[in-house]
Amino acid sequence: MGMAAIKPRNIKFALAGEDKRNWFAGNPVATAVMDGASILFPVGETYFIESVVHFRDRVSDPKLLEEITAFQQQEGIHSREHRRYNKAIEAFGGDVGRLEQNLKDEIARWDDSPEFKLAVTCAFEHFTAILADDLLAHDDFMKGADPEFSRIWHWHAIEEAEHKSVAYDVWNIVKPKGLKGYWMRVRAMMLATRVFIGQVHHNAFALLHARGETSTLRNVRRMAYFGFVKPGILRRVLGIYLGYYLPGFHPWKHDNRVLIEKFRAAYEA
Ligand SMILES: [Fe+2]
Ligand SMILES: [Fe+2]
Repeated sequence: MGMAAIKPRNIKFALAGEDKRNWFAGNPVATAVMDGASILFPVGETYFIESVVHFRDRVSDPKLLEEITAFQQQEGIHSREHRRYNKAIEAFGGDVGRLEQNLKDEIARWDDSPEFKLAVTCAFEHFTAILADDLLAHDDFMKGADPEFSRIWHWHAIEEAEHKSVAYDVWNIVKPKGLKGYWMRVRAMMLATRVFIGQVHHNAFALLHARGETSTLRNVRRMAYFGFVKPGILRRVLGIYLGYYLPGFHPWKHDNRVLIEKFRAAYEA
């Protein structure tokens, strides 16, 4: 069960403007990676909401029912704000609609049984939770970033941390019994890993190219540096990522309430 209060914060972020080009510390690669992830959110979060809400009737615990509602509100607002985000960054180059379509096409090929959809959502929620944790845990993560972009990413990170177990707690109620359920969860994580890493990279490369950074070799080198050396997000989160494959996994076995508390005050109305 969840360990943090899930509080939807209805905020509109001011992300448009020519001064926001290369908003991440003037670094086109860091900017394109984050923007590449942002492009996945509106479609992804809509899918997450649907897959969790589908099982609402199977839940009787009043606390979890409340958490589902709050999860739905948070993801709905994230989806709205990342749509605005994606519109704002499109001005700097890149066809957001076409990149978004790749994810829609990918989803159309998946097994769409409600149980598997929920397993996929749990896997993606683990991704967003560990990236959120990494962002909140490292004060220098967004060093030099435009303040409003830093604010939207911290806001999203706090809320992903708050609601990280909602999909998983529903999964624990409705999952297929025994090994079948475990294997479905593992399969879904392998799929989510391929799609998340693959599409963020694809989107980042496409954005870099459209923004005039046309040297593929240089982009590959700089992306690898960003992922594995500095800040080295992929290297840093590997352990917590692998924890998902343990049979007894639960998102709150990694208790990061301290981090949520640390940043919450900045968003109190
Ligand atoms: Fe979200
Ligand atoms: Fe989420």
